[in-house]
Amino acid sequence: MRWMRNVLVGAALAGLALPAAQARTVKVGVVLAFSGVNAEWSEQIMRGAELYLKQHPDSVGNNKIELIKRDSKNPSGTVARTEVQELITREKVDIVAGFAFSPDAIASAPLATQAKVPMIVMNAGTAWITNLSPYIARTSFSMWDAAYPMGTYAAKTLGCKTAAVGYTDYPPGKDSLEAFTKGFESAGGKVVDAIPMGNPAQVPDFTPFLQRVRDEKPNCLYVFVPAGEHAAALVKTYGELGLRAAGIKLIGPLDIIQDTKLQGMGKAAVGLVVMGHYAADYTNPANEVFVKAWRAAYGANSTPDFMAVGGWDGMAAIAHVVKTLDGKIDGDKAMKALEGWKFASPRGPIMIDPKTRDIVQDEHVEEVVEKGGRLHVNVLETIPQVKDPCKELKVGKCAQ
Ligand code: PHB
Repeated sequence: MRWMRNVLVGAALAGLALPAAQARTVKVGVVLAFSGVNAEWSEQIMRGAELYLKQHPDSVGNNKIELIKRDSKNPSGTVARTEVQELITREKVDIVAGFAFSPDAIASAPLATQAKVPMIVMNAGTAWITNLSPYIARTSFSMWDAAYPMGTYAAKTLGCKTAAVGYTDYPPGKDSLEAFTKGFESAGGKVVDAIPMGNPAQVPDFTPFLQRVRDEKPNCLYVFVPAGEHAAALVKTYGELGLRAAGIKLIGPLDIIQDTKLQGMGKAAVGLVVMGHYAADYTNPANEVFVKAWRAAYGANSTPDFMAVGGWDGMAAIAHVVKTLDGKIDGDKAMKALEGWKFASPRGPIMIDPKTRDIVQDEHVEEVVEKGGRLHVNVLETIPQVKDPCKELKVGKCAQ
């Protein structure tokens, strides 16, 4: 095709631009619980993910991301699994993402392995989820990131000798119980009661559980309940039953003081101490940009929270893969691109651990304080770059 070469050479000599590399559209299936008791979180995750793309149109190079959203409805895992199956086989998505509840990620993991489709977990926090498939990477957290160091902090710094643990009775709750107990008891404390408190699909009446704790009088009460409606009801009941006045400190992961619920918790939340990786109050430069963009996009009175950040960072990870592979997604190459990926998240510096594909992030001990009629978090202490302690210590399913 000598004539063609001549035309191209001629075009180049004449200073005309040659056609740019082919733009590709990468299909990303997003599976989140857009309906059900805590649908608000999935909206937060989705908004975070979409805002990232809107603010960084160049992050995917010349390519495009098409989002295909599916509702996982209830936290049983079965609907999510069916949706993931359809996204992979019918829609032929290149990547799946989302996963608000742990059972949704747990049930879907084998599909990612079979199809070699990268699966980006933007919320579900059960530690061993990342052990279930080499195609999973997580941009949210492991329950152990907060619960294990909080166990140590409660015994050593808060001076708690005894603790009760309350948890929503499903994988991240059981994980939180195990992690807190290990941290607390290896630092000299004693867990005196472990109380399963209902399921994630329904907000229970927390009164009987907290009454039992009031009667037992431990120094600390560590609680994991899903953020959102569960957390709001828990803190309200803690206030109503006068547990603080009875000398029982409520502590937990950041889920119990989610930004979207914090202002509504009122006085009952003041003095709570949590271990967390994000609050809208953080003043690092990436968060200032993020919060400003959020308010411009979703309203001056709306606030991002840790779930929104899981979505934002998850989309940043996906964009990184798309750019690195120039839109030609291959499962193994995508996972290679994610291993060791570093990012300036609104929560602070993060990395995807090249060994475990789980997030590495700073954890902060934070206390809720009241200032100028609003509730804020005050950072008391920071533990830099925490790697999931469940995997570091090789506990149970995290050892596989
Ligand atoms: C989970 O199901 O893994 C989960 C849900 C809500 C949270 C944290 C973890 O706040």
